[in-house]
Amino acid sequence: MAQDISALAAALALQCDWGADEALLESPADRLTVREAPARPEARPAPEAPTRLARPAAPVVLATAPPAQARARELAEAAPDLAALKAAIAAFDASPLKETATNLVFGEGITDSGLMLIGEAPGADEDRAGRPFVGASGQLLDRMFASVGLSRESNFYITNILPWRPPGNRTPTDAEVALFLPFLHRQVALIRPKRLVLVGGVAAKGLIGGKEGITRLRGRWHEVEIPGLGRLPALPTLHPAYLLRSPASKRDAWADLLALRRALDQAPG
Ligand code: URA
Repeated sequence: MAQDISALAAALALQCDWGADEALLESPADRLTVREAPARPEARPAPEAPTRLARPAAPVVLATAPPAQARARELAEAAPDLAALKAAIAAFDASPLKETATNLVFGEGITDSGLMLIGEAPGADEDRAGRPFVGASGQLLDRMFASVGLSRESNFYITNILPWRPPGNRTPTDAEVALFLPFLHRQVALIRPKRLVLVGGVAAKGLIGGKEGITRLRGRWHEVEIPGLGRLPALPTLHPAYLLRSPASKRDAWADLLALRRALDQAPG
């Protein structure tokens, strides 16, 4: 028995080393064996290649990416308003993220304020609450924006590039960002903001593109093209989760907030 327990403890330690920091299901799923795809009423894209036990940080390769992206674009463009867009995202089955997340996290805040913040992806707290930026980094974000007189209750709308939480809070892959980008573009086009703030490197790279990292992009206004809306000024800034780990960078984030405040004061809403 003692040996059994130490073998189990070693297996658990190995999982932790691989980055599996929480249980996603009530019972373990054997991802080393090839499973029959469950029968679905409607036609589905070709099944993915046999699944192997994936390290949480490893990129998810979507074998079906191009058709799935085209489907995402079709669904997004057909949504006439935010409620329909949220329903379309909820019904979109092409990403495994939906299987492991608890709640869809859509945007919230003031839709006609002219200002929209875009973050990366829900974390554990957001996944539980079904609301963006409500955990520790969201609370820091709220305090930072309050320091320049801005809140989601009065002055901005806030959402994420991904509507589902990546398991273990790993960084979204490029494929995941590309898959959900049509839904985000449509959300922006429906809100029609005058300015965007891109919170963190994933949002900045997803919307601006290119190879520059967030430390180079931040603090300057860039132009991003939103299908169906046109070009918008976008200000990348450091992610509050990064600031929690690197408080010395709060000085840079403060400079970014002042740049935003100046822009709003010069040309309000
Ligand atoms: N980090 C994000 O980028 N978005 C959230 O909603 C929460 C944490």
